[in-house]
Amino acid sequence: MEKGFIIRKATGEEMLALWGVREIKKASPTAKFFYDNISTGNTVFWTLDHDGELLGELYVFLNLEDKDFADGRNTAYLCAFRVKKEYRGQGYGSRLIATALEDLKQIGFCRATIGVGSEEPQNVRLYRRLGFITKIKDCHYDPCGMDENMRPRYEETVWWLLQKEL
Ligand SMILES: CC(C)(COP(=O)(O)OP(=O)(O)OC[C@H]1O[C@@H](n2cnc3c(N)ncnc32)[C@H](O)[C@@H]1OP(=O)(O)O)[C@@H](O)C(=O)NCCC(=O)NCCS
Repeated sequence: MEKGFIIRKATGEEMLALWGVREIKKASPTAKFFYDNISTGNTVFWTLDHDGELLGELYVFLNLEDKDFADGRNTAYLCAFRVKKEYRGQGYGSRLIATALEDLKQIGFCRATIGVGSEEPQNVRLYRRLGFITKIKDCHYDPCGMDENMRPRYEETVWWLLQKEL
């Protein structure tokens, strides 16, 4: 990787800063959910850091209510995957995922899942290339995208839950 760029685990406070949340009290339900899960260790926040500036993010949920996504033992769920616009298409996203998957394997997980909109051909192609080739099911929600009652928000559009063996 180019000089000055590193991939590392980051904290809940760094996630809040990246998402523009100044106080946890004022965070959206989804931001609260991510922050709480990072704090308890159920979620690993991976970032692409360039000299202290966070340019990419990926969150790995180890356990979720819907065990098709993450079951705390074998299967973990990857989500909120983003690289800043100016840095896309240079392999950083693929490296973030590869690092997170290697870490998951080290702690004994053997499967990873990821969600993708059926109308996002670029992302579908990327995930297939990264080995997420098994489609588990159609979904109408992201288990980490919360409504005001802290329940996963229903979405009109269908998206697919894809899985990769590690
Ligand atoms: C998806 C994303 C994180 C990938 O990161 P990245 O650093 O660009 O990924 P890489 O450089 O390793 O791989 C590039 C691949 O990403 C895909 N991609 C998706 N959107 C892209 C974009 N705007 N620019 C470039 N590549 C994009 C392409 O399939 C590309 O593959 P190709 O070379 O076959 O065209 C990044 O494009 C992004 O932040 N997109 C917007 C947010 C998003 O859609 N996130 C995923 C769902 S939560």
